[in-house]
This record gives sequence, C-alpha cells and structure tokens, in this order.
Amino acid sequence: DIPSLLMLFEEDFPIGAAVEPNQINSPSAELLKKHVRWLVAENAMKPEAMQPTEGHFQWTNADRIVEFAKENNMRVRFHTLVWHNQTGAWFFRDAEGKPMVNETDPKRREANKKLLLERLDTHVRTIVGRYKDEITSWDVVNEVIEPGDPDGMRASEWYKIAGTDYIATAFRAAREAGGPEAKLYINDYGTDNPVKRDRLFLLVKELLEQGVPIDGVGHQTHIDIYGPSVDSIIASMRKFADLGLDNLVTELDMSIYAWNDRSDYGQVPPQEILSLQADRYGELFKAFRRNKDILGGVIFWGIADDHTWLHGFPVARTNAPMLFDQQHQPKPAFWAVVEAA
Ligand code: XIL
Repeated sequence: DIPSLLMLFEEDFPIGAAVEPNQINSPSAELLKKHVRWLVAENAMKPEAMQPTEGHFQWTNADRIVEFAKENNMRVRFHTLVWHNQTGAWFFRDAEGKPMVNETDPKRREANKKLLLERLDTHVRTIVGRYKDEITSWDVVNEVIEPGDPDGMRASEWYKIAGTDYIATAFRAAREAGGPEAKLYINDYGTDNPVKRDRLFLLVKELLEQGVPIDGVGHQTHIDIYGPSVDSIIASMRKFADLGLDNLVTELDMSIYAWNDRSDYGQVPPQEILSLQADRYGELFKAFRRNKDILGGVIFWGIADDHTWLHGFPVARTNAPMLFDQQHQPKPAFWAVVEAA
C-alpha cells in the first residue's frame, strides 16, 4: 500500500505541489488528490499570464486551478505577483512605447517610476481583490536578491526604474486588497547561501522597520543530490524565524545532477543515484519535522518525474527530481520521506 504524504505529515505541515492547468484532467490529478493539500500554479498565475497586455486580465487558467482545489478540499497559494521573468514588456515602457530603463532625463525618470508603480498597484489590487476569499498565501515578490549585482539587489527593470520602492508598493497593495488574513511572502532561491541569506535578511528587516507588511520568506529549495547541506537550509529558516517571520519551502525539487554537469542518465537513473537522492530527501524531511515550529508548509515544484522544469534546464538532460517516477510509481526517495514521517 502506498501511504498518503499529506496524511503522514498532517500534524507537521501541509504538503503542496505546483501544477499546470492541463494536469488537472490528466493522471497527475490522482496523485495530487492523494498526496497534496496545497496547489500552486507552475506558470498560470505569473504576471504575463495574468495581465499579458495592459488592462486585459486573464482569469481562465488561474480559475481552473482554484476550482480544482475547491472541489478537492485543497488550498491554493499564489505564485507570483511580481517577478523579473515572465512579465509583459508593456509594464516597463513609457507612454511613447520606449523602454523606461533607457530614460536619462531626471524629470521623465520620475514620471516613469510613478507610472510603473501605478501599474504594479493595479496589477496587485486587481488580482488579490479577486481571489482574496480563496487564496490567503501569496508570493508577493520573487527573486529580488542577487549578490552579484550592485548593492546585492537584482538589477531588474523593476529595480532600475523604481529602486526598492516596487517591493514596498507590492506588499502594501497586497495587504490593503487582501486584508489581515492574507499571508504575504518574499520568495527566493539559494536562501541557504550565507551571502544571499544575509542580504535578504537586511532587506526584510529594513522593510519591516518601515512598516511594510511582510509575513514570511519563501525558500524555493531547488537543490540537488550533492548540496546544499540540510543544516544550511534550516539555519536560514531559523534566522528569519527569529525576526518573527514564517518560512515556507515553496518549490522543492532535487536534481540528480550537479548544476552544470553535462552527463545524462536518460529515462532510468542508476540505482546508486536514486539511493543518494533517497538518503538526502529522508534527511531533509527529518530536519523539516524537527523544525516544524518554524516551517509553515512544504511545496514540491511538480509531483512526478514525467513533468518537471528540470528536463533540459539548465542543460539538456533528463532529470528525475521528484518522489514519483515517470510512471507515477513511488521512488526510493518517496519511501525515505515516508520513513522520516
Ligand atoms: C519555472 C517553470 O517551472 C517553467 O515551466 C517555466 O518555463 C519557467 O519557470 N523559480 C521560480 C519558478 O520562481 O517560477 C520557476 O518556474 C522555477 C524557478
């Protein structure tokens, strides 16, 4: 018998998974219904999907996920109101259609910033207002830290045009539209890296001091079988918990390759690789359980190896990062997670 993950961890934290709308009417739906309590849209709620051109909001795909969740007693968390990727270029063009980042005149730069923040405010209020009764957990901004960029802030169009004000604007609009029930997160990858973690910490601390409503940190947790250490993942959560914030694991998966390794195991990874993956998944979930007081949920970025963004990213190769294989059968990693419960 295959136990249900959501039942196994019921006392600890909710288990979730990212989905595409077309997975709702596919065999993946059965896996999701059995193992998952939270759904996240893998792409359907990103800025370009929600508002591809100015003023034209698209609800169909997002609604499908919300409806499927409702029918199956699941909750939805929103990913993501703001990002530098998958965002319509129209956001960053001035009234004449020119890229705002190229503007050098100080007066016009000021006007552009105002326009951008107004667009952002509308985007956030419209979406949060529509879903506030159904969705109470929100990725407000995604991937705003980049240690390699000046000041450690990602040099996105958002940042180049509006500085950190876009972050404050997004959180304030989300709170006003979503009310006190809405849990608002700043989401990023590599938060275990001390340099990145500390820059994120500083940003969040400053924003909180300015009264910006942030409830928690989303740790994407796209890891691989070689690293980073489980201790470094937990240490980061601890640091944000000490600031009074919630932590979520928002996009968990575990590549079977080192980041830029060009080898390819094909459809059937070697046993020793699968058992390495199992050991690490087991270790990770044991640590999650021990630290459940600072962990509000664990969401996988997918559910089975037949559908994962890691096929072909960052290099061409077949990956196997999930707990279920391409045929939706439990892998050694699944049983190690069961063991950890
Ligand atoms: C990825 C999706 O999984 C892909 O389908 C898409 O082509 C690109 O985006 N960090 C994030 C997610 O915050 O939104 C990304 O999702 C994976 C990395």
